[in-house]
Amino acid sequence: MRINGKAMRTIRPAADGRSVEIIDQTKLPHELRIASLRGLNDAAVAIKTMQVRGAPLIGVTAAYGLALALLDDASDQALRHAAAHLIKQRPTAVNLRWAIEEVTRVLQPLPVEQRTNAAWEHAARMADDDVEVCQSIGAHGVPLLAEIAKRKPPGTPVNVLTHCNAGWLACVDWGTATSPIYQAHDAEIPVHVWVDETRPRNQGAALTAYELGSHGVPHTIIADNAGGHLMQRGQVDIVIVGTDRVAHNGDVANKIGTYLKALAAHDTGVPFYVALPGSTIDWRCDDGASIEIEERSADEVLKMVGRDENGAVVTVEIAAPGSPAANPAFDVTPARLVTGLITERGVTDASRAGLDRLYPEHGAQS
Ligand code: MRU
Repeated sequence: MRINGKAMRTIRPAADGRSVEIIDQTKLPHELRIASLRGLNDAAVAIKTMQVRGAPLIGVTAAYGLALALLDDASDQALRHAAAHLIKQRPTAVNLRWAIEEVTRVLQPLPVEQRTNAAWEHAARMADDDVEVCQSIGAHGVPLLAEIAKRKPPGTPVNVLTHCNAGWLACVDWGTATSPIYQAHDAEIPVHVWVDETRPRNQGAALTAYELGSHGVPHTIIADNAGGHLMQRGQVDIVIVGTDRVAHNGDVANKIGTYLKALAAHDTGVPFYVALPGSTIDWRCDDGASIEIEERSADEVLKMVGRDENGAVVTVEIAAPGSPAANPAFDVTPARLVTGLITERGVTDASRAGLDRLYPEHGAQS
């Protein structure tokens, strides 16, 4: 994606060969700040504090985190320690476990002195693969938007509703849910995106709106509660969201509030699609009930960060003083509410059979 005319990725190895550069997403949309990760702990903190976030990017950051850890010590014990440290930073996005297991599988059989280079190479390959996979997700999603556009009066935009940020900021480039949107926009299919603000952390208002705006895609930020109303009034043609983990039966975990959008879409007959790379499917997870849901700090609900009238970024309290708050960060949308899964291998129904058909090499295992 281009920011201020410059092509950017969300993560890349630095020129010094000993650190990794990321876009610090906790500073957006107020400041585009590049942060350096200089060791295992920096990578772990970046994942935990959501300087990097979004399932695919969490995975790639973990891969680079292992590479950073092995700069000092590439022994079996160091590899095990780094993997264990990274995996506990966020529980719901399965790409974290996937990336750590992939890198470990590649490194473990190698002699210790070859591991560090191999880890850097493998992390870079994962980043490149993510870009390719997200591009393919977009290519498979565009026909859905083109089909809707054909049924609308010429020049009328296809209205897409999305939740949270499943954009290029959540991946290395392109995004998952946003990839069909960017590709349709670039192909001159008129699109307009309803962007759920996505309380409590506002990934929609802060991140999705930022990236859509940077790419010139028409969009409107809405309060999370507005989606059902817009669907009832025929102002949403399609919902496309991302996901942090898809169970083998097609149940989908995604940012808290996704389930409510799926219910409203189901009630109003609006198609509800989920875009994902194969690395987000948890083949060991039979259905959504066993997916661990991350509980985050109550402060995310009780406080908000924003820019004041002097341009300073400040945190303010927004709730009744002393009231407690709960903050489950994800929910599970049952497969029966999902119209289809848009993957790098094509679009399928959200079911065990659908996933097995697209990924026969995994389906057979479970
Ligand atoms: O808590 P976050 O911001 O990491 O949650 C992100 C999401 O819920 C995204 O929709 C999901 O990771 C898919 S990203 C392509």
